[in-house]
Amino acid sequence: MIGVFDSGFGGLTVHHALINAMPDLDFVYLGDNKNAPYGTRPPLDVLNLTCAGLDRLFAEGCTLVIVACNTASVVTLRWIQQQWLPAQQQADGVKRNAIGVVVPTVEAATGVAWNDAPAPAATSSKPHTIGIFATQRTVETDIYPFEINKRRPDILVVQQACPNLASAIERGLPHIEIRNLVHKYAEEFRRKLGQGTLDSIILGCTHYPLVADMFAEELPSVPIIHQPGATAAALARYLDRHPEYNIGRHGKRIFLSTGFSPEALPLIEKFWGGKLDFRQA
Ligand code: DGL
Repeated sequence: MIGVFDSGFGGLTVHHALINAMPDLDFVYLGDNKNAPYGTRPPLDVLNLTCAGLDRLFAEGCTLVIVACNTASVVTLRWIQQQWLPAQQQADGVKRNAIGVVVPTVEAATGVAWNDAPAPAATSSKPHTIGIFATQRTVETDIYPFEINKRRPDILVVQQACPNLASAIERGLPHIEIRNLVHKYAEEFRRKLGQGTLDSIILGCTHYPLVADMFAEELPSVPIIHQPGATAAALARYLDRHPEYNIGRHGKRIFLSTGFSPEALPLIEKFWGGKLDFRQA
């Protein structure tokens, strides 16, 4: 089984892309909706909640987990991969891994993979500019500018925190209220951008692709880097390199949640294209 973990419903945007790309693989989704949003929580909270989520997915038989939540990936993944999982493997002998969403997205945005040399400096006088919309916590860490500039020092990154957007989606607020929030954050972003041109944007929070149409209305004809698709492509490459995870191929789907607002379901099921049968985690 492959686990997909998110603070709430947002990870379904990644999950959907994973299922489309690898329909025969077995997947378990876990949304920690009860504790969402993560983006305004202290880092230690995010770490504890993410470890609890991963433990729950391991108990379902997952050996590989996609940490779809950007905030959880940014805050916890390095420690989980380098310290927590090796300690667990030592204790019970089972090899497990957790993979995030930031690096696949940055690779797609820059065209430079983790094992490529950085791209040579561009000669154009106009900087290539990428806009990032993400949670407060993700923006504060500067992970996107850091990872992008490591590969492409010539790219200008303009970030915009959207502190209330994921929770508005989680709580199922009316369309108009969510639309107004996207407008407010886009206005703040445009002020920072000033006269600069914009080449693409990254929706660096899994919840935001659920309202991608609103971002597209605010920033017409600016390409949106597709984080779910980039993550699916990265997972396919990872599984080719790591056949030892031996993931089941029966097209099994399990949806778990720690508890959600039913008001959010219409937007979520519209995105999903059908009913979702969540079990209590
Ligand atoms: N969906 C999460 C992310 O990708 C965060 C939303 C939240 O819980 O604040 O960052």
